[in-house]
Amino acid sequence: MKPEILQIGPMMKHVEAALHGAYRTHRFWEAADRGKLLESVGPNIRAVATNGHSGCSRAIIEALPKLEVIASYGVGYDAVDIAACKQHGIRVTNTPDVLNDAVAEMALGLMIALCRRIPQADVHVREGWWLEGGYPLTAELTGARVGILGLGRIGKEIARRCQAFKMRVAYHGRTAQPYEPYEYYADLEAMAGDVDWLVVIAPGTPETRGIVSRQVMQALGPRGCLVNVARGSIVDQPALVEMLQSGALGGAALDVFADEPRVPEALLGLDNVVLSPHQGSATVKTRTAMGDLVVQNLAAHFAGAPLLTPVV
Ligand code: NAP
Ligand code: 8YV
Repeated sequence: MKPEILQIGPMMKHVEAALHGAYRTHRFWEAADRGKLLESVGPNIRAVATNGHSGCSRAIIEALPKLEVIASYGVGYDAVDIAACKQHGIRVTNTPDVLNDAVAEMALGLMIALCRRIPQADVHVREGWWLEGGYPLTAELTGARVGILGLGRIGKEIARRCQAFKMRVAYHGRTAQPYEPYEYYADLEAMAGDVDWLVVIAPGTPETRGIVSRQVMQALGPRGCLVNVARGSIVDQPALVEMLQSGALGGAALDVFADEPRVPEALLGLDNVVLSPHQGSATVKTRTAMGDLVVQNLAAHFAGAPLLTPVV
């Protein structure tokens, strides 16, 4: 008998095919009555496959008395109720490292787009305005100072790419990393005051909630730019919107938001903002590797082998 698993949200076709081949899969997001589905198949479910957005709530976890493992498709596992997993002895896996390059590439792409005003220049050409005159001069990244909030797996890849663009790199985290060649700031606001760009790539946790506060953005100032490729929860979003509107903050490039997929209406009309729909890891190559890790973690669990990338 194939083990029964609950798939919380859609995944790439090859992942769904692999899961379907190895397990009896129940598709939570497609159920007309999700409560009824949990009631009927909940007692048999031994694993959950989910994505970073859907996660797995305490309510779902507690409706699955035989649940052993949750495999999440993403490195950030803030949407999985880890306290409930620990309480019930449930293992959790994520997909670290395989997405570092794609997310770092997106961070630099957003920075270049914001700095060189690539979306606006594209409109300038498409609308035929070039015939009336060239596009105004812009700033550039070369020689600018960047502060990275979260010099972890992805943060280090962003730092290397910023160096390649001849930027001066600093970082903030809870701990100094003396073997890294970048200046460490124990205080986030102090770092924001010393840089032109603040790139956010820390996890969404209770401790990081709102740490990019109004004060931090004031320190970054009217010539400073914020890039968030981590989680919307880390930034005080109402303050961000207000400061972008008033010009108290120079600009922002945002891949993530507080209440995705909803984006504050006020951001849509602003010219000093570049917006992206949570696309950091969204390449075929990277999403394939992430999906493979989900499948391999579940296979390892059911084979009694060590999990490849355990979180809990
Ligand atoms: P990681 O290797 O665990 O690095 C996280 C970094 O954040 C560490 O350097 C850590 O340094 C720092 N940090 C943790 N808590 C902190 C706190 N309270 N204050 C300041 N710094 C703190 O994680 P990663 O693999 O690089 O991923 C980072 C996050 O990126 C993920 O959790 C996810 O939310 C997000 N992400 C987004 C996308 C996207 O599509 N936009 C894709 C992938 C990941 P210390 O321990 O020294 O504090
Ligand atoms: C994904 C992410 O978009 O890995 C993460 O933490 O935010 C992204 O890679 C997401 O998890 C896919 O569901």
